[in-house]
Amino acid sequence: MKRRTFSLGAAAIAGTALLAACGGGRGDSGSGGGSDEKGFAKDAVIGVSLPWLGTQNWAEAQDMFTDQLKKAGFEPLVQAADNKVPQQQQQIEAMVQRGAKVIVVGPIDGTQLGSALEAAAQEGVKIIGYDRLIENTEAVDSVVQFGSIKTGELQGQSLLDGLAARKGAGPYNIELFGGGPADPNAPNFFNGAMTVLQPKIDDGTLVVVSGETSFQQAATPDWDNGKAQSRMDSLLSGNYSDKKIDGVLSPNDGIARAILTSAANAGQDVPVVTGLDAETESVTSIWKGDQWSTVYKPTTALVSKTIEIIQAYQTGGDAPATEAKADNGSKEVPVYELEPVVVTKDNAKEVFKDDPERSKLLV
Ligand code: BGC
Repeated sequence: MKRRTFSLGAAAIAGTALLAACGGGRGDSGSGGGSDEKGFAKDAVIGVSLPWLGTQNWAEAQDMFTDQLKKAGFEPLVQAADNKVPQQQQQIEAMVQRGAKVIVVGPIDGTQLGSALEAAAQEGVKIIGYDRLIENTEAVDSVVQFGSIKTGELQGQSLLDGLAARKGAGPYNIELFGGGPADPNAPNFFNGAMTVLQPKIDDGTLVVVSGETSFQQAATPDWDNGKAQSRMDSLLSGNYSDKKIDGVLSPNDGIARAILTSAANAGQDVPVVTGLDAETESVTSIWKGDQWSTVYKPTTALVSKTIEIIQAYQTGGDAPATEAKADNGSKEVPVYELEPVVVTKDNAKEVFKDDPERSKLLV
């Protein structure tokens, strides 16, 4: 299925061989800047194009890429695009003009960067999808992300666990939220969660009182917390004037907090709400006993892995082998898939033991 990642096994080797074969760059336009034909200069410009800075993970990525690319000897050119596709396209074009040898892209819309990236590929630029899949184009060399289906499964299971722990025996009244529909992660998060939740909806353990169970109905345009809060306000006023809401599937922490605010404004008891990103405010909320859970996908691991791949491209060597790949609609893209971890109050100290920023919140 499109967008789904799967284990590669032997095909990983083929994928690596393919990468190696492509090592000299698609375009041999002579843009090597005096470096080895297969690699590029050690102090080359590396572009990083982020979709926006509206959630903590992207702001962290901006700082970490700037810092760590510099430490690795490269010249970072890190920009964020305020969730506007034309702005992101222009930023990528400008990175190519500045001579970037690799462009790392967290796409706003997985399908809308084809022409900008194909123009970059023509110049021999390597393209790495960061945290999100780049879709419907050949112009992507690899993707680094946390398993997005897996993330959704963790969220779905955590909602069930939270309901059992906090709300006694079922059936439970719940509502479902998804992320921004342009982001290829968002349907994966939702579908992953639904593999766990749908059987419990079917057997009557979970009741989606609004009846809004499709991704289209549940999605939050642009991952906008304000839009999620408005939808939650309407769901509560339209369906819960005489009912308690027990739980809500939330795709990330910002939306989780918007849902909790809406429920409090409506005079509801704190529902069980899931999340993603381990944002500072949500870790604090979990520790206080409000938000039930989050999923930790540390930016530091994602950035380190990306830089490892950039270094492999720099020497003209093979990128490290991947265990998964994704069909992006045009090709099978090697995916470096990291493991997300669900966090509740019970395991927070353990999960964050090597993360001083988050550990210090647990007091
Ligand atoms: C990222 C999440 C983030 C969301 C909104 C997703 O693609 O994986 O970490 O919360 O975008 O920015």
